[in-house]
Amino acid sequence: MGKTRAGKRYVPKDDYYHAAKKQGFVARSALKLEELDKKFRFYSKGMKVLDLGCAPGSWLQYAHRKTTGQGLFWGIDLSPVRIDLPNVTTVVGDIYDLKADDPRFEGIRPFDHIQSDAMSKTTGISDADCAKSVALAEFALYLGRRGLLKNGGSFVCKVFEGPGFTEFFLEMKKAFRRCSVNRPEAIREGSREVYVVGLEFRESGTLAAPAQD
Ligand SMILES: C[S@@+](CC[C@H](N)C(=O)[O-])C[C@H]1O[C@@H](n2cnc3c(N)ncnc32)[C@H](O)[C@@H]1O
Repeated sequence: MGKTRAGKRYVPKDDYYHAAKKQGFVARSALKLEELDKKFRFYSKGMKVLDLGCAPGSWLQYAHRKTTGQGLFWGIDLSPVRIDLPNVTTVVGDIYDLKADDPRFEGIRPFDHIQSDAMSKTTGISDADCAKSVALAEFALYLGRRGLLKNGGSFVCKVFEGPGFTEFFLEMKKAFRRCSVNRPEAIREGSREVYVVGLEFRESGTLAAPAQD
C-alpha cells in the first residue's frame, strides 16, 4: 500500500469514496464540490456551467442535480466521461486548445460559472506538480477573462499550494470582488490541493486576443 506525501498510509477506498458511490456519483470529487457549494451556493436554475477537466463526470452530475437539470453544461477532458445527462455536452480534448471564440460555445457563452478540477498526472516531484496545477488554474482564469465568464459570474478551481500559487491568487483577487482559498474535508490527508473560489467576476472580456503571427 502506498503512502501520501505526508507519509501517512494511503487508503484508496475511504469513507468519501463509499459515500459518493452510495449517492450515485462517478467519483468522490463530487463531495468536495458539495462542501464548497454548501458554503458558496454556486448553482441556480437556468445557469450555464463550463467544467474544465470534467471526467469521469461527478462535478457535472452534482451541478446538474443542483439545477434540477435546468441549465446548460459544457465539459472537456482528455478522457471521456462516464455520464450521459440531458443538457450536458462533453468533449474529449485538451483544455489548452480551447479558445474563447470557439464556435462550439456559440449560443452558450458567456458562462455563469466556471469550474475546474483539472489536474495532470502527478510526477511525485512536488514543485513540478504544483507548477502544472497552477498553469491549469491560470488558463481557466485566462479563458474567463477572454470573455467565457460573464461579469458577476463565479469560479472554482483546484490548485496545489506551492510555487506560483501566491501569484495566481493575486490575479484572482484582481479578477473577482470576493476570493478565498478552501480546503474541503473530503481532500485526502497529506494532499497539497486546495480550491480557490472567486465570486462576482469583474473582468469579463478584459483580455484582447493574442496577436496573430
Ligand atoms: C480529478 S480529475 C477531475 C474529476 C472531475 N471533476 C469529476 O468530478 O469527475 C482531473 C481531470 O483533469 C483532466 N485533465 C488534466 N489536464 C487536462 C488538460 N490539459 N485538458 C483536459 N483535461 C485535463 C484529467 O484527464 C482528469 O480527468
